[in-house]
Amino acid sequence: MKFKPLIIGNWKLNLFREEAFNLIEFIVKNTPASFKGDIAVAPVMVLLQSIAEKVHGSRIQVSAQNIFHMQNGAYTGESSVRHIKELGVSMAIVGHSERKQYFGETLKHVCLKIKACLLEQVVPVVCIGEKKIESAEIVLNKQLDYILTTISDAQFHNIIIAYEPIWAIGKKVKIDISRTEKIFKLLRKKIGNNTRLLYGGSVTPKNAKDLAQILNINGFLVGSASLSPSMFIEIIKAYL
Ligand code: PGA
Repeated sequence: MKFKPLIIGNWKLNLFREEAFNLIEFIVKNTPASFKGDIAVAPVMVLLQSIAEKVHGSRIQVSAQNIFHMQNGAYTGESSVRHIKELGVSMAIVGHSERKQYFGETLKHVCLKIKACLLEQVVPVVCIGEKKIESAEIVLNKQLDYILTTISDAQFHNIIIAYEPIWAIGKKVKIDISRTEKIFKLLRKKIGNNTRLLYGGSVTPKNAKDLAQILNINGFLVGSASLSPSMFIEIIKAYL
């Protein structure tokens, strides 16, 4: 299957209200019309609604950075998929490595969140990736084996997998293109042809063009470079 590229800007815990508004206005105005893919931004939870209003009528979608798997109940401080969907959000990042590192999320939580998203027709962007000292092949296989048990064949086109080597996140490392290509070949073989595969970790305007050439990469999950208006647009242009 030929996928449209998807570029997601993960703003993490950055950008206060005015800064976020300025950035989204820039993106809406400056996304080249010749880019035929999809674009999404993931602001902090409390700005989801206002950013969704700002992009209304444009081609930009809004993603949550996280959700809780229960729809409602006594879970102080959480927001469910239904809550974010009501705000106009169409995607949710699930299982980002920072959630695992700082908030104790496990693969079990990730699977519950995927299920919750699929129930509400919100697209889960499921993050996988290995630590520096781990074997990518072993870890990715294990993570995918676990995750894939929660997804029926018919649901594969409703999820997105983002491969983010943990050692490349927020580190501005040099990406080994041929190694990345090899890993995506394995991922594609394992996951089949119905699911979009994104790359994330140290994506910049400099490496985006080379990464975009890799056949099995269908777009990017961008962290720090997505906070720079010009860099984010340059990254989108890698797919022109
Ligand atoms: P980075 O982050 O682009 O800053 O490496 C990527 C991510 O965390 O999704």
